[in-house]
Amino acid sequence: MIKNFFKQLRWRRVAGQLRKPAGKEGMEIARKMNAANEFLYDFTLDEMLIRDNQTLLEIGFGNGKFFSRQFDRAANLRITGIDYSPEMIKAARSENEEWIKKGHLTLIRGESDRMPFNEASFDSVFSINVTYFWDYPQDHLLEIHRVLKPGGRFYTTIRTPESLATLPFSSFGFRMYTVDDWKLLCHLNHLTFIRCAQVTEPPVAGKGPAEGLKSVCLVAEKKIL
Ligand SMILES: C[S@@+](CC[C@H](N)C(=O)[O-])C[C@H]1O[C@@H](n2cnc3c(N)ncnc32)[C@H](O)[C@@H]1O
Repeated sequence: MIKNFFKQLRWRRVAGQLRKPAGKEGMEIARKMNAANEFLYDFTLDEMLIRDNQTLLEIGFGNGKFFSRQFDRAANLRITGIDYSPEMIKAARSENEEWIKKGHLTLIRGESDRMPFNEASFDSVFSINVTYFWDYPQDHLLEIHRVLKPGGRFYTTIRTPESLATLPFSSFGFRMYTVDDWKLLCHLNHLTFIRCAQVTEPPVAGKGPAEGLKSVCLVAEKKIL
């Protein structure tokens, strides 16, 4: 019984670190996320069909390990990242010094429900494993709607509720969404739901919490008025 209590404490702590990585432990968790979520980055970037000269925004980039993969997809991209963890900003700035120096990447500390960007700034906005932590998703979706260009798209990749429920930390404050939940949320926040792509994750080298988990990339568009 006492063993179980300590296990639960540990998972609560991990959940808190996934929500907002902090300190040395946060840096370690971020490295583990890189291994667990690399596949989802490639999957999401494939769905985005990134084209030359686009402006992209990533919400919740962790330690920023995968910005270089975005730059690999097309020429002359302007990419912005926003994350509210100071440690993640620091790690991502050091990982991506060259892109920042060249003026192609801007990393901002902030929250996705109040972003310091002008209206209609981005062709695409995306997030991977972030929407679980939004207490009031409508505030974030309205803000994303504001910063998207007309016709711009929001891509969010999340694990399905069935898969998320198998992960021991998910019972500590993770909000789960079915595709229908997401469709309704998009509709209520002026985004047109476009499609859902589903994928089953392969084993991760070494040990694999991600093996066999199912994730979806949900795509919604800001209407052209
Ligand atoms: C679970 S991690 C996912 C990191 C990375 N996208 C991945 O899939 O490996 C969640 C990240 O989103 C950030 N985050 C969560 N909610 C946020 C919000 N409302 N605004 C900005 N950043 C947020 C956290 O600080 C953390 O870096």
